[in-house]
Amino acid sequence: MTAHLSVRDLRKSYGGMPVLSEVGFDIPQGEIAALIGPNGAGKSTLFSILGGALSADGGSVLLDGAAILGLAPEAVAKRGVGRTFQTSAPYRSLSVIENLLTIAAGGAGFWARLARPLAAWPRQPALAALSEVGLAEMADSPARALSYGDAKRLELAMALARGPALLLMDEPTAGMAPSERAAFMDMVRERSRARGMTVLFTEHDMATVFGFATRILVLDRGRLIADDAPEAIRGDALVRRAYLGSAPVPPTKPL
Ligand SMILES: Nc1ncnc2c1ncn2[C@@H]1O[C@H](COP(=O)(O)OP(=O)(O)OP(=O)(O)O)[C@@H](O)[C@H]1O
Ligand SMILES: [Mg+2]
Repeated sequence: MTAHLSVRDLRKSYGGMPVLSEVGFDIPQGEIAALIGPNGAGKSTLFSILGGALSADGGSVLLDGAAILGLAPEAVAKRGVGRTFQTSAPYRSLSVIENLLTIAAGGAGFWARLARPLAAWPRQPALAALSEVGLAEMADSPARALSYGDAKRLELAMALARGPALLLMDEPTAGMAPSERAAFMDMVRERSRARGMTVLFTEHDMATVFGFATRILVLDRGRLIADDAPEAIRGDALVRRAYLGSAPVPPTKPL
């Protein structure tokens, strides 16, 4: 079977300093994979390259067997790659539903967008996307009134509204309370199952990683030092030394 996402020999340096070295992995369709590693390991850099925002120095990235490395972010998104960012940024001056309507309007082209105010775009698909993340009741609230966790949900709804086959989430639950984290990731898992959507996320909280990832990739100073099932990662001495040594490893029980 072709992997959904296939990365080979990916390399990136900043001013001669290697940030990613020979990174390669395959992620099958529908998997929820976590990319972990210490601060500065290169996780966000890898995401920026996968999403088309940053160029690589070499390597290849295949989505369903088709090369996407080097495409612009918009073209990568059209191929089915959705993203949420380390710092989330819904438009604070718009209402919650208007934030989603910008997605529909954005896909319609410049002239269509110009001719039609946001409020004139169909509400139904936008409401459906908000329902998926439990925000339908907030549809007409100003986005700036959302709690931190709800702003993250809105950002997720905006990514889901584009129907991604692969969702990249950079530290989706950073800054959330533990209970909020679990609820958010439960929802992501639910959405992944319902849509058959592959998820790759970065995360520093080990309870979240071991509670939700079906697979864990470990990056250390730009190199992938492990790529395995959670149970195998837990017992990996190299991973413990590089990373887990500084963080408590949670018990085996899933969240
Ligand atoms: N634009 C840039 N110019 C030069 N160096 C950069 C640039 N962006 C990132 N770096 C460096 O690349 C390395 C990887 O950074 P990156 O943000 O990918 O790490 P990360 O794993 O996402 O870390 P964190 O867990 O803190 O988010 C770091 O050493 C960082 O300082
Ligand atoms: Mg980062």
